[in-house]
Amino acid sequence: MTPSSILFIILQLCSLQLMAVSMPTCQMQANVVKETHQALRDLGGSFPAHCLQYNVNISFPYSAFPATTAGHPHCRRASAVVYESLKGMQQIFEDELPAEEGGVNWDNTKLSTFMILQDRLLEQGSCLSTVSPNVLMSYFSNVTAVVQQENSAVCGWKALMRDVLEVLEIAQLKHETCFTRRR
Ligand SMILES: *[C@@H]1O[C@H](CO)[C@@H](O)[C@H](O)[C@H]1NC(C)=O
Ligand SMILES: *[C@@H]1O[C@H](CO)[C@@H](O)[C@H](O)[C@H]1NC(C)=O
Repeated sequence: MTPSSILFIILQLCSLQLMAVSMPTCQMQANVVKETHQALRDLGGSFPAHCLQYNVNISFPYSAFPATTAGHPHCRRASAVVYESLKGMQQIFEDELPAEEGGVNWDNTKLSTFMILQDRLLEQGSCLSTVSPNVLMSYFSNVTAVVQQENSAVCGWKALMRDVLEVLEIAQLKHETCFTRRR
């Protein structure tokens, strides 16, 4: 082998490595999905019957989840639904954090446990934000409208927590292969 062909091979290997590094390995971890789900359940409590009237305003588009459960495109989409749900929820928490007057009795320890896990998942899935069209836009603008009104704020929060809880449940039941396992 000539020195130049060896150099050529080395260059090829280097560029392969660069490609591997620059490809987004964007996956949320199964155990963090699970812990986030548990933390949200602890935080949320039950859904009050008097809030059922707001189901007209707040109805999560579950059809955003892929129907099939095989292959890479399916996983991208399922993960993106999880990502966007958490991202939207985080935004609402930041902008409209329900204070005492919202009538929600927040347990601050549970709230911060949940928010830390939510942050971690969003970090793990951060490259997903660029791959999905924002299918949940109308959902979140409805939630915002409901939590911004004093007499419906509590119901808005409860509905949001109910829906994101369901999203995390579906993700684990039907799309569990999309999340990496800790070794
Ligand atoms: C948003 O609210 C309107 C009613 O105000 C309702 O018709 C629509 O289905 C809601 N969309 C979502 C995604 O919740
Ligand atoms: C809920 O939807 C109804 C029907 O579209 C609308 O009139 C009402 O203002 C909405 N309520 C809130 C709190 O957004």
